[in-house]
Amino acid sequence: MDTLYNKRIIVGISGSIAAYKSAELTRRLRDAGADVRVVMTRSAMEFITPLTLQALSGRAVHTELMDADAEAAMGHIELARWADLILIAPASADFIARLSGGHANDLLSAICLASQTQLAIAPAMNQAMWDNAATQANIATLKQREVSILGPAQGSQACGETGPGRMLEPEQLLKICNNLFQSGLMSGQHVLITAGPTREPIDPVRYISNRSSGKMGFAIAEAAIEAGADVTLIAGPVQLDTPERVTRVDVETASQMQQAVLKHAGACDIFIATAAVADYRPGLQAVNKIKKQADEMQLKLVKTHDILAAVAALAKAPFTVGFAAETDKLLEYARSKMERKNLNMIVANPVGPTRGFDQDTNELDILWPNGHIHLDLNSKKTLARKLITIIAERAHAIDTTENTG
Ligand SMILES: Cc1cc2nc3c(=O)[nH]c(=O)nc-3n(C[C@H](O)[C@H](O)[C@H](O)COP(=O)(O)O)c2cc1C
Repeated sequence: MDTLYNKRIIVGISGSIAAYKSAELTRRLRDAGADVRVVMTRSAMEFITPLTLQALSGRAVHTELMDADAEAAMGHIELARWADLILIAPASADFIARLSGGHANDLLSAICLASQTQLAIAPAMNQAMWDNAATQANIATLKQREVSILGPAQGSQACGETGPGRMLEPEQLLKICNNLFQSGLMSGQHVLITAGPTREPIDPVRYISNRSSGKMGFAIAEAAIEAGADVTLIAGPVQLDTPERVTRVDVETASQMQQAVLKHAGACDIFIATAAVADYRPGLQAVNKIKKQADEMQLKLVKTHDILAAVAALAKAPFTVGFAAETDKLLEYARSKMERKNLNMIVANPVGPTRGFDQDTNELDILWPNGHIHLDLNSKKTLARKLITIIAERAHAIDTTENTG
């Protein structure tokens, strides 16, 4: 299975003789279905031309930080948010030093500093440069910050010396990148996810609905697959492709969503309710289209069933995660929803005309009975991956306590 399909990857190229291998790497990432944007340092352009990388990536190559045109289009902060993975290959000794020092004086280092996504580097340098205590200290710092250090390999070098410092081959890097997206944190777990809005019919042609796009739920489904889970996704009406290997069940109304959820909930280990299920539906659905007559008309609404609370109340309830989309008093409403419905966790996200619904980015507050983590504004895909890691850890912690307590 190619986990790189549809992934957004920044290939960062710095000034090493191994830069020629980045061309092959870019081509292979594209072949694997990844969307690749290349960012080059000035030194890198002495070794390989942006034109080559532009042709292979199918996109303009980014090279300058102080570029008004580029900043007006996809600037360094947007690039940082866009990526699911930043892979620096080759990473020169100097670039590694800048990264470890938290510099932002060129486009590539600024992107790395501004990004909260996975960062991996493939060092390439002379063996003495690699062995130097300064480089080793920089590498140790990066490891502490959870940067993935890919290689380097041992062998003969362009400078004629032999030792550690060769960049890994594109094929090896491709394999490792695939694994980076496959954490195995949820191996063997059955995860049930709801996503999107529901539609509550008024008559055969009209309905009440909301602005949920389903993007967050679909990103979570994909992240759960990457983590090794078996995923069933119950989706309201959305315009999204089904992530690979996800079993999708399409529904329209809150009542259909409830039936589908309860059918699968008994067999799942984790339930993540991202769907924006209608709280109220029209009490009666007109058989025929309602005609325009009086100046005013009343629509009687009745409460729908609370799917989330019903799952959390099951005798063998899964680890249950709710979502709270709020325009105000976000944390207060979210915590009270978690307590009222007896959830294991709740994910609060601010929504409004330009936030949350139908956006590619979001920010989250993840709450559980004794904890809270804030995830800054980022792509929904990156947030989904972080959320899945936190859910897996919390579910595991509860499981361990129950089995030993
Ligand atoms: C021919 C040549 C080959 C080089 N190869 C490497 C290399 O493999 N690794 C490395 O760390 N630096 C190498 N350097 C030095 C870097 O290019 C130099 O430190 C540069 O400032 C790195 O800039 P950057 O990190 O912004 O790309 C080489 C320099 C030259 C002239």
